[in-house]
Amino acid sequence: MERKRIFDVIVIGSGAAGLGLTLEVAPHASVAVLSKGRLEENNTYYAQGGIAAVLDEKDSFESHIQDTLNAGAGLCDEEVVRFVVENGAEAIHRLAGLGVGFSRRSDSAGDRNFHLTREGGHSHRRIVHAADATGKAIETTLIGQARSLAGVTLLEYHNAVDLIRDQQKDGGRCVGVYAFDGRRGKVEAYGARAVVLATGGTSKVYLYTSNPDVSTGDGIALAWRTGCRVANMEFIQFHPTCLYHQDAKSFLVTEAVRGEGGKLLLPDGTRFMDDFDKGGELATRDIVARAIDHEMKRLGIDCVYLDISHRDADFIKSHFPTVYERCRQFGFDMANEPVPVVPAAHYTCGGVATDIDGRTDLEGLYAVGEVAWTGLHGANRIASNSLLECLVMSSAAGRDIVRRLPEIADPPDLRPWDESSVEDSDEEVVVSHNWDELRRFMWDYVGIVRTTKRLRRAKRRVDLLLAEIAEYYGNFRITNDLLELRNLAQVASLIIRSALKRRESRGLHYILDYPRPDDSAPPRNTVLDPAALDDNGMDAVSPRQDR
Ligand code: FAD
Ligand code: SIN
Repeated sequence: MERKRIFDVIVIGSGAAGLGLTLEVAPHASVAVLSKGRLEENNTYYAQGGIAAVLDEKDSFESHIQDTLNAGAGLCDEEVVRFVVENGAEAIHRLAGLGVGFSRRSDSAGDRNFHLTREGGHSHRRIVHAADATGKAIETTLIGQARSLAGVTLLEYHNAVDLIRDQQKDGGRCVGVYAFDGRRGKVEAYGARAVVLATGGTSKVYLYTSNPDVSTGDGIALAWRTGCRVANMEFIQFHPTCLYHQDAKSFLVTEAVRGEGGKLLLPDGTRFMDDFDKGGELATRDIVARAIDHEMKRLGIDCVYLDISHRDADFIKSHFPTVYERCRQFGFDMANEPVPVVPAAHYTCGGVATDIDGRTDLEGLYAVGEVAWTGLHGANRIASNSLLECLVMSSAAGRDIVRRLPEIADPPDLRPWDESSVEDSDEEVVVSHNWDELRRFMWDYVGIVRTTKRLRRAKRRVDLLLAEIAEYYGNFRITNDLLELRNLAQVASLIIRSALKRRESRGLHYILDYPRPDDSAPPRNTVLDPAALDDNGMDAVSPRQDR
């Protein structure tokens, strides 16, 4: 049977942002959701700590806004911060209404009294959570809801290759996407009146990351190739505490462990965070990750230790059941001993430039969630503001799409994917080699502490890789690994170019040649515009450099 390939809306991504938007739109329109792997294989599913929202009467919007602005180091868009913070409580209640089992206070009589935990940079307890598996609770609930809706088609193992732009419309319009069905080995065109990128972040570009394999920056690369601006890509967040064990594949130990009293220790048991910041273990992540990196390099050690063993064992097991169990599997009993931890790439603060309704530069194309640069996070995201952004912004974008759909025509007939000039590869080793090389030099040269010399070295390497990958892509049939490599290299190049442009240290971007913020001018965003590249492919100064 011929499968349906025309929808009102195509959502690329099945995390909190993609499914949140799907639920908003589905009562009014037909929606297809594409996910690269299984529906639940994404960052959202693995989120631990929770969602930041103002739910305690002693807390206030102003306080949450101020904490977000402080972490963002002068680069947050205050209008967006206010919008997201003020809509946070409603988003939480909506999720609870759908059945997400958030943890409740043990002393609470009613069922609206969420247990609130603490994380770095927040001056109040304001993190709503489902023990330490908040993402799993959200993701499984959203998938259940999406499955129950007649107008929603869920397409697993469909990897978006490139967006389809209709040049006939004024200024161009996004009318669909080519997607590679990994199980059938086939690329097909899918048409829509609106397309949404909800593809998450790009932390897999680094050798060590807390993210699952799907986080390869595809949405950012797709948007860039189709002509959209991308911003603030130099601000990559490294989470301070991933479990250090050769088989753990960077399992995260949630910041809430520090929020509930966990201390960071050197191998000899000495605490060190107070030497770096008065916030100690609850300073913002940029400070904690840099402090750990500093101590590891100073002492030549492989990891530091996180110790919460002074708390009651029952408290630890009930608040952190996932982390406790995972550590135990690797031979560490966190109720009785410190666990070894290291920083790893965790979150992409920059992304595809959007407005407050999730609209990108291209008509008909939206971006929501970690893939987007809305201006919420500035130079450093504060803990648990990401799921919040996914929920609030996906609703806003969904409402905008529903409002505009009646004015948008059906997509035109789409050209089928052309494979006539490619063949099966006889040297897959090029792909695996380049994956490894890219992730290693990004870690070594574009990591927590940068220098101009190392960034230039990384730029030379990524330029070579881009050329080699383009040639390979032009000659051989695509595979998932090739698609991801092509996107990773594209996004790595955007990160490096953005980092080279920022001649100051600010938030997550720390560069030894310019160790302080440049206060001689107002803080600026790094906006890269594909339309403003010069003949050599270098970034020319765009007239839209700062918004
Ligand atoms: P994701 O949930 O990552 O979903 C991306 C989706 O896009 C996936 O379904 C994937 O298959 C799909 N996709 C990607 N590329 C393609 C393609 N080419 N074609 C088709 N589909 C594609 N944030 C918080 O606020 N609180 C927390 O407690 C928290 N804990 C975290 C813990 C961990 C271990 C990690 C990794 C992150 C955590 N974060 C947390 C960050 C937060 O989870 C993410 O930023 C957020 O879930 C991103 O949601 P998203 O919907 O934008 O993307
Ligand atoms: C964590 O639980 O430490 C992750 C929280 C986040 O990334 O916001």
